[in-house]
Amino acid sequence: MTTNSTDDILLDVRGLDVDVLTPEGPRRVVHSLELTLRRRGTLGIVGESGSGKSMTATAVMGILPETAIASGKVLYRGRDLLSLPARERRAMAGREMGFVFQEPMSALHPTKTIGAQMAAPLRLHLGLTRRQARARSAELLDLVGIPPSRGVLDAYVHQLSGGMRQRVMIAMSISCEPALLIADEPTTALDATIQKQILDLLADLREELGLSVLLISHDLGLVSRYTDDVVVMLDGHAMESGPTDRVVSAPESGYTRGLLEASPRLGHSPDRLPVIDKSRFTKAVQ
Ligand SMILES: Nc1ncnc2c1ncn2[C@@H]1O[C@H](COP(=O)(O)OP(=O)(O)OP(=O)(O)O)[C@@H](O)[C@H]1O
Ligand SMILES: [Mg+2]
Repeated sequence: MTTNSTDDILLDVRGLDVDVLTPEGPRRVVHSLELTLRRRGTLGIVGESGSGKSMTATAVMGILPETAIASGKVLYRGRDLLSLPARERRAMAGREMGFVFQEPMSALHPTKTIGAQMAAPLRLHLGLTRRQARARSAELLDLVGIPPSRGVLDAYVHQLSGGMRQRVMIAMSISCEPALLIADEPTTALDATIQKQILDLLADLREELGLSVLLISHDLGLVSRYTDDVVVMLDGHAMESGPTDRVVSAPESGYTRGLLEASPRLGHSPDRLPVIDKSRFTKAVQ
């Protein structure tokens, strides 16, 4: 059973708005969003492209683009991150949060070895020596299923497969022992078999390391297998939220029902994808 004591909550987002500055003026891309993630829990954010998933994640991490402004509250262990000075916020995010992106190629340096890239944060944040950082990097790779015999520490990113790159990203994201892991479409660029391996790996690491995980995807079927709770977003609004089992078995929103029907994982063949007329739902929340 879930408990809801304040101590049990790691991340509590209250009334989050995100506005982006455009030549025509500010445009709101996240509206009064509420999210709650328990310690050691898993929360999914699901929605189609442009629904505001990454804006929400980057607002939580404190790495919004310069053209975007967040307001409301992002309570992390009870402290409002939005009210902290930028430097303190970045330090807190660096220590407490790990981030796995969709595209590891753009997050990894093309001309530095994997070992050199893994060692840098370990030396900076944990004060390890060069030798200790190398040993720890080898352990971390082992933890994500890359044994030392693969020689990955001395490899460059272009020499690795997509699945291996994402494993390296995950190893880096957990290297400073974060409490919260945010995975934004971590498997969208991978084929189905590798996708499952990576999500299973995240689930194992969560269990082993006691992490809380925020998993972002456009695929409700996929998220439903890996999360306790879920928020369904459309055009910056939460259309529905609650325990994943309930949302999937008895969706309250017609939009969620459409997403379920559109998910090939939940027994519908991809060549019969229904088209969701989202204009029917957007009006309801304005
Ligand atoms: N740097 C930016 N400057 C201005 N607007 C942006 C910027 N990044 C995203 N947006 C806009 O904010 C809205 C939300 O975008 P966001 O990237 O959060 O969507 P998303 O749900 O992550 O989509 P996807 O599934 O494609 O990753 C979109 O309308 C997008 O056009
Ligand atoms: Mg995104």
